Amino acid sequence: MCGIVGYVGPGDTVEVLTSGLKRLEYRGYDSAGVAVLDTNGEVAVRKRSGKLARLVELLEASPVPATGTGIGHTRWATHGGPTDVNAHPHLGDAGKLALIHNGIVENFAELRAELDAAGVELQSETDTEVVAALLGLEVAKAGDLEVAFRSVVKRLHGTFTLLAMHRDNSNKVVAARHSSPLVVGLGEGENFLGSDVAAFVGYTRRAVAVEEDNIAIITPELVTITDFDGNPVEFEEYEVAWDTEAADKGGWSSFMAKEINEQPEAVANTVRGRITDGHVVIPELSALGDETIKNVDRIVIIACGTASYAGQIGAYAIEQWARIPVEVQLSHEFRYRDPVLSERTMVISVSQSGETMDTMMAVKYANERGVTTVSVCNTQSATIPRESDAAVYTHAGPEVAVASTKAFTAQITALYLIGLHFGHVRGTLSAEAEAAAITGLEELPAAVAEAVATHDEIAQLAHWMADTRSVLFLGRHVGFPTALEGALKLKEIAYIHAEGFAAGELKHGPIALIDHGQPVFVLVPSPRQSPVMHSKVVSNIQEIRARGARVIALVEKGDTSVLPYADDVIRLPLVDSIFEPLVQVVPLQWFALELSTAKGLDVDQPRNLAKSVTVE
Ligand code: G6P
Repeated sequence: MCGIVGYVGPGDTVEVLTSGLKRLEYRGYDSAGVAVLDTNGEVAVRKRSGKLARLVELLEASPVPATGTGIGHTRWATHGGPTDVNAHPHLGDAGKLALIHNGIVENFAELRAELDAAGVELQSETDTEVVAALLGLEVAKAGDLEVAFRSVVKRLHGTFTLLAMHRDNSNKVVAARHSSPLVVGLGEGENFLGSDVAAFVGYTRRAVAVEEDNIAIITPELVTITDFDGNPVEFEEYEVAWDTEAADKGGWSSFMAKEINEQPEAVANTVRGRITDGHVVIPELSALGDETIKNVDRIVIIACGTASYAGQIGAYAIEQWARIPVEVQLSHEFRYRDPVLSERTMVISVSQSGETMDTMMAVKYANERGVTTVSVCNTQSATIPRESDAAVYTHAGPEVAVASTKAFTAQITALYLIGLHFGHVRGTLSAEAEAAAITGLEELPAAVAEAVATHDEIAQLAHWMADTRSVLFLGRHVGFPTALEGALKLKEIAYIHAEGFAAGELKHGPIALIDHGQPVFVLVPSPRQSPVMHSKVVSNIQEIRARGARVIALVEKGDTSVLPYADDVIRLPLVDSIFEPLVQVVPLQWFALELSTAKGLDVDQPRNLAKSVTVE
């Protein structure tokens, strides 16, 4: 949460900062602000509550003559409401230094009391201004920004990425990282800092991931990384795999629409290079060794939000193919329940960003207990894959819309690959089942493309249902987590009460919710592949229809059995049962998008949410 960008160099500083913030806005959009060194050598700040567009208006109305040093911030409010005053940057040392922050300073009350006692007056309610003021006092004392910065960061508890600049240190930005993300962008005669590479990928694709409890100092010519005591730390650069085009909206009405459309490619790219001689081989797992995979007797998948539903779907596949018991736990529940773990347990984390704090803490917890950790992640060199024993990257490309779509289908795909790879290594998969699953995987992108093509009929449906206040989703087996995801999408971006249920649970309670006109999406399993489940779900449809529900059935093409009972039927391509979520979720994503649009809402930046939740 919160996007951070820093720049030193000869470029147009305000433009570099605002274009970086534009790409980071998905991390929070309660307020935005920049601080630059102006042509008088002073720190000049422009900041405003609301989305970045309001800051850009302010910068147009009140331009700042910037030299080449600046920092910028887009905020997801924690301490203090989303007001102009609480917006970052915050000042210290009588306005000579500016500081921005992502995270939470947990001992801020204690530090604030210390400042009160010293007679320092603060303007805002934020924990960040406390740090800026403390840094100001230290700079005044030490006479050196870097020395002062090191001493302040060592006093902070909680989580933080901090960027600071000072009037007396032109061409320098200092940054520290403790449990929040920070990357450096390496340019020619200019350097960058960002919460993630999106901040600077328009300028350079050479990046360095700053490690935990390190400080990065950038000048136009030099990047120095040290620990909190100032000891130099070696670092390696890497090449960012995608460019700005991948992170731009192109001609689409929203990032979410673009990303839904990109799903066939996301699935294909995730599979690419991972099938060799008729087997799924994941080179990234080779470091673990086949013995580790054979030895695993239990898998715990940890994730939050949409990623947790991908995990639930993956659990069915891994159990089916690798015959290992799998349970899925929300990351924030996992480590507080004193989980039973052994050296034969494997923890697989699923995270698009690779920075979700709850998941990161759960991975650390598992690592500390000597468990093998595998990360399924969409973001190269993010913290979670780096903290894990092995990383299986999804290749969905950058996902910008807050509501996850292509990352979800890519995560499920990666978990299918893991299930098939483990099944092959452990010898639990028959040659026939393996061949059929691999063919199915290879055909998935085309099937997902067909599901994407349901857009127009779904848009029509959403148009008719624009006044709907509550929607239910029913599914069975892998259709159950898909139903949960359909409901989550609707809550996230259309602000509609929605719930997903296991269809078998209907008569144990949820059927009481059915009233005249209640819309219910029903994910109908394939009658060819799962005739028993299919007939049970068709019975559920009859039960809710008899009680007045408006049934929207998602069926495979050719399944006519629900026609007498469904109000609307969405026909989807034929795939193996285990792969059904990849085609069934797509119309549900479209439905949420179209309903949000019909209600005049911001599809990409829903209220109160941020894409990457980097605080607990
Ligand atoms: C937030 C986002 C969700 C996402 C979840 C997990 O809640 O709004 O869309 O599914 O975080 O994010 P991750 O990056 O760990 O997949």
